Amino acid sequence: MAKCLLCDAAIEPFISFGKMPIANGFLHPKQFASEYFFELKVGVCEACGMVQLTERVDPEQLFHDNYAYFSSISTRMAAHFEQFAADVKSRYLVDEDPLVVEIGSNDGILLRHFAHAGVRHLGVEPSANVGEVARADGINTLCEFFDASVADNVVAEHGQADVVLATNVMCHIPDLHGVLEAVRILLKPGGVMIFEDPYLGDIVERTSYDQIYDEHFFYFSLSSVQQLLGRHGFELVDAEPQPVHGGSMRYTFAAQAERTVDDRVPRRLGEEQERGLARVETFEAFRAQVEQSRDALHALLAGVVEEGARVVGYGATSKSTTVTNYCGITPEMVEFVSDTTPAKQGMFTPGVHLPVRPYEEFVADYPDYALLFAWNHGDEILAKETAFREQGGKWIVYVPEVKVL
Ligand code: SAH
Ligand code: TMP
Ligand code: ZN
Repeated sequence: MAKCLLCDAAIEPFISFGKMPIANGFLHPKQFASEYFFELKVGVCEACGMVQLTERVDPEQLFHDNYAYFSSISTRMAAHFEQFAADVKSRYLVDEDPLVVEIGSNDGILLRHFAHAGVRHLGVEPSANVGEVARADGINTLCEFFDASVADNVVAEHGQADVVLATNVMCHIPDLHGVLEAVRILLKPGGVMIFEDPYLGDIVERTSYDQIYDEHFFYFSLSSVQQLLGRHGFELVDAEPQPVHGGSMRYTFAAQAERTVDDRVPRRLGEEQERGLARVETFEAFRAQVEQSRDALHALLAGVVEEGARVVGYGATSKSTTVTNYCGITPEMVEFVSDTTPAKQGMFTPGVHLPVRPYEEFVADYPDYALLFAWNHGDEILAKETAFREQGGKWIVYVPEVKVL
């Protein structure tokens, strides 16, 4: 029986996606034979409400000097983070000579707005290759996994932080107790931490099961976050939904009783309770939806391929590793996956081994169907790919439901 990573209670998984490779583990044919697999399954802890993976891959195997995800590849995310930085500056950087620390700063997509404005800042980023891109742009970056000893060193060298930021990284860290202990050391009295991650409510509502993969150890709700924070003397002071990554939540917390709690927090907690976001039955229903989505996508693809249509994947996302492996999407169905990230081009996708080709190959010879793996960037992509549709191309999407556009 698996145990909750946060409170040790026993957990029974409510869904298994079967054997899965590393979601960002793009590879060359000579590596196929030694590819690593684990069972991707998720459970909800009935004691603390945290939804989480019940079998896990060691983080050192996920985040390293060859990490495939470069945040700045998306202009939509770049704009989102520019706005976020402006909000943080106006709301929270009120003291003289403030310090901003970011956990999981990647290529500097967020921190650059502080660095370029002359704000004291530091990124903590264990994946050396992406951190190097940030450094080259003048962004102070430590190549480390964030923990209490890193926090001690930062405080010794730079003093405490006014604001700690973390986007799409808290759910990537199995030892959240260690992180919160470190934040306690790092944060100034009166300071805040703001973090943003895909929101469990949206995953369930939209059947976006592809948010589930090895790097996402946790699927947060306000109530599970609130319980966790309480164990470390923190409290949630705000929670604001964000449209990015298919539905995210931005959580702001501070030491207990230091700041006023926005009305949104109790209101949303009440909504979650009504929706049953901590109840096993909710997740049983989710599993049924996921299975239905898988069968529908497989049938649709098999049908168009049978008719002789060409299908190309759009965006070799980490999320699509769950979809392709779970739904059995093979190279016989999808000719290749188009992706703009140079590090992924020429490689093969994890598990099912679809070839990843440069975007130019998609444009040079439009397929009949493009399977939109990067659906979370859908607005941006559909807006820029008008020529594909004008020439008769069709999109296949699967979130929130399987359909042809
Ligand atoms: N913040 C960026 C990147 C998200 S990807 C964005 O929102 O786009 C997650 C990043 O967190 C990766 O770059 C990964 O290397 C980093 N990361 C993973 N575990 C970490 C840890 N324990 N401490 C700090 N960063 C971590
Ligand atoms: P993500 O879903 O994890 O953000 O990854 C997006 C992937 O999709 C990344 O590998 C880049 C790729 N991509 C494209 O190829 N074209 C695009 O227009 C966009 C927005 C992303
Ligand atoms: Zn628990």
